[in-house]
Amino acid sequence: MSERTFVMLKPDALERGLIGEIVGRLERKGLRPTRFLWRVLSPELAARHYERLAGKSFFSELIDYVTRGPVLASIWEGREAVAVVRALVGATDPVKAAPGTIRGDLGLDCTENLIHASDSPESAEREIALFFEEE
Ligand code: PPS
Repeated sequence: MSERTFVMLKPDALERGLIGEIVGRLERKGLRPTRFLWRVLSPELAARHYERLAGKSFFSELIDYVTRGPVLASIWEGREAVAVVRALVGATDPVKAAPGTIRGDLGLDCTENLIHASDSPESAEREIALFFEEE
């Protein structure tokens, strides 16, 4: 069954000129983008997006990073899109991410790991609403 997921290319992906590379990987898999939004996140929106991580030691570093420049938020559709995109993205730490994944092939830094993808259909709907439906 087709489902949708939320994907955000983080500032390092844009700074490094990797939009085409990353979006192309999702497209070649057969997923379909339905919305794109280029924006600089306010600290408030970033904190709401990552609210489940508010108690983590790296929280302020994460918020500073994702607000330092534009991100490219997007919605993608396809069969089991949430799990498929997570598999394409790879493990959180690019050093541990498998070769062939986005982080495994393109990243090295644990904080600057290029891309966020929803971890469940429920998270996807919450994140889509936050970025695309509350304006
Ligand atoms: S956790 O702690 O298990 O909830 O972490 P995880 O699910 O792997 O990651 C959640 C998001 O936190 C980011 N993260 C970090 N940011 C900065 N520094 C460190 N050390 C760090 N560790 C994890 C991680 O990239 C995840 O971001 P998103 O955008 O959701 O992928």
